[in-house]
Amino acid sequence: MSATPRTPSIASQVSRRRFLRDLGIATGCVATGATLLGCEVSEVKVSGGGDVTELAFNVTDAKFVDLKAVGKMVAVNVGGAKLLLIRTTQAEVIALSRICPHAACDLSPDGVGTWKVASSTLHCGCHNSEFKPDGKYVADSVNGGGKVGDLDSYPVTFDAAAGTGIVDLVGAV
Ligand code: FES
Repeated sequence: MSATPRTPSIASQVSRRRFLRDLGIATGCVATGATLLGCEVSEVKVSGGGDVTELAFNVTDAKFVDLKAVGKMVAVNVGGAKLLLIRTTQAEVIALSRICPHAACDLSPDGVGTWKVASSTLHCGCHNSEFKPDGKYVADSVNGGGKVGDLDSYPVTFDAAAGTGIVDLVGAV
């Protein structure tokens, strides 16, 4: 008697990437008011082991709705990293570490961070350091002389038409 081929279960058809994406969205994210204050998924592990390697977002999701507008930011804690997602242009969302390397001020919207659309820089309200979209410290900001250091920058794939994106949590530079 020949064995009947088994149809793969729905679960096994879901790619690892999709599985991680779903975990990132579904686990532990808490929206407070109009701004996401703490999307804590840092303890999430995929079945079989491994850390969270990416975070998916959708600007229609209440947790990320601020990213609909250019110049707005959303703070996210994921995979042990404290990130800032910033809608820099209609076509682009960037992801930077959000703890200022000068004196560890929190650059979140509810902290001291401000995205300056005109200059395309992230401003730290503690001592006025500024950072470029790639996280590089602006050497002529108030703390000048390149003494502050850079923010980590995480690659983001963003589909502006769909309003969806994926942050690569292991590709920081
Ligand atoms: S903590 Fe940001 S400039 Fe000092």
